[in-house]
Amino acid sequence: MSELLHLVDVAENIFPETLELLNDNSSTSNQKKVLHRQLIAIDSKNNQIDVRNNVLSYYKDNVKCDVVLNKLLDILDNNLGPIYLEKSSKIYCNEKPWKENKIVEMKSEGLLYVIYNDDITKEPLLFMSFMITDDPSLVVPTDNDSNELSNSTAAVIYLYEIQLLELIRNQKLGTILITNYLKKTIEILNKDYQKNIIALELTVFSNNINAINFYKKIGMLYTPDSPRDKIILPQKRRTRSTTIALESKNNEPSSRLTTSKPIKKIIKKPDYYLLFLPIPESNKIQLNCQCK
Ligand SMILES: CC(C)(COP(=O)(O)OP(=O)(O)OC[C@H]1O[C@@H](n2cnc3c(N)ncnc32)[C@H](O)[C@@H]1OP(=O)(O)O)[C@@H](O)C(=O)NCCC(=O)NCCS
Repeated sequence: MSELLHLVDVAENIFPETLELLNDNSSTSNQKKVLHRQLIAIDSKNNQIDVRNNVLSYYKDNVKCDVVLNKLLDILDNNLGPIYLEKSSKIYCNEKPWKENKIVEMKSEGLLYVIYNDDITKEPLLFMSFMITDDPSLVVPTDNDSNELSNSTAAVIYLYEIQLLELIRNQKLGTILITNYLKKTIEILNKDYQKNIIALELTVFSNNINAINFYKKIGMLYTPDSPRDKIILPQKRRTRSTTIALESKNNEPSSRLTTSKPIKKIIKKPDYYLLFLPIPESNKIQLNCQCK
C-alpha cells in the first residue's frame, strides 16, 4: 500500500465531511455557512486510489482535478499573489510566471488536497495540501540511548498550503484544521499504519506576518536548518581628529568612550522560514534539535 493511499484513508476518516461556520464575514445575516469536503490525491502513477464520492485521483481523472486545481490557484493568487510575484524568480530559480511554476508544484506526486466547498455555490473556500516526506534535518534518537543517534531521518507531514478565503478567516478554522484534524491524522498514521511521523513542517514567506503570527500561536518553532533573520550593526566611521578631540575632552582613551545614542540595528530577513510543530504523541521519538 502506498503512503498516499494511507494518507487518503486516514484523512477521509478524520477530516469531517461538513464544516459549519457561524459567521460568514461577507454577510450580515446569522445564517450558518455549510462547507463540504472534497479530497484530491495527486498520484501520477496508479496508487489504487478509488475514485468515490468527493475523492478524486489525479491518475484516474486528471481533467476534473485540473479544473479544481486551477480554482485553488485562484485562491492562492487572491491570498498571496503579490508575494509570489515578488519572490517567484528567487524561489523557483527561473523567470517563468509564478503561476506556471506553482501549478507544477501543486501536482507533486504524493500530495493530498483537503478542500472545503461552499454548500450553495459549490466553489472552494479553503484548502490544505500535504504529503508524507522525510526531513534529514530532524534525526530520531535510538530507543535504548537517547544520546546515540540512529542514521534514520524522521518522517514529517509537509504542509504545502493552508489557504482560507478572507470571508472565512479569523474564526479559529485554521487552528482547528491543523491542531485538531491534521494532528489527529498524524497520530492515527503512527498508531495504525506504523509510521514514524514526528512533526508537521512547512515553509512560510518571511513577509507573511499574519501567517507567522498564526503559526507561532499554535506552537510552531523554527526547524534547525531554517533561514533566520540576520542582525546587522552598522559601524560608525570615526575620523582621527574626532577621536583625539573626544579623548582630550573626557581625559580617557577613546576605546572606553561610549555614545549615548542607541545604535540602529538593521534586520535582514531571509525570503522564507521553515517551521515545525512537534507531535508529542509520537511516543519514544524526540527531535534532535535545539530551537527557541
Ligand atoms: C493564516 C490562516 C491559515 C489562519 O487561519 P484562520 O482560520 O484565519 O486563523 P484562526 O482564526 O485559527 O487564528 C488563530 C490565531 O492566529 C492569529 N491570526 C490569525 N490570523 C491573523 C491575522 N490576519 N493577523 C494577525 N494574527 C492572526 C491570531 O492570533 C489568532 O488568534 P486570536 O483569534 O485569538 O486573535 C488564514 O488566515 C489564511 O488562510 N490566510 C491567508 C493565506 C496564508 O497566508 N496562508 C498561509 C501560507 S504559509
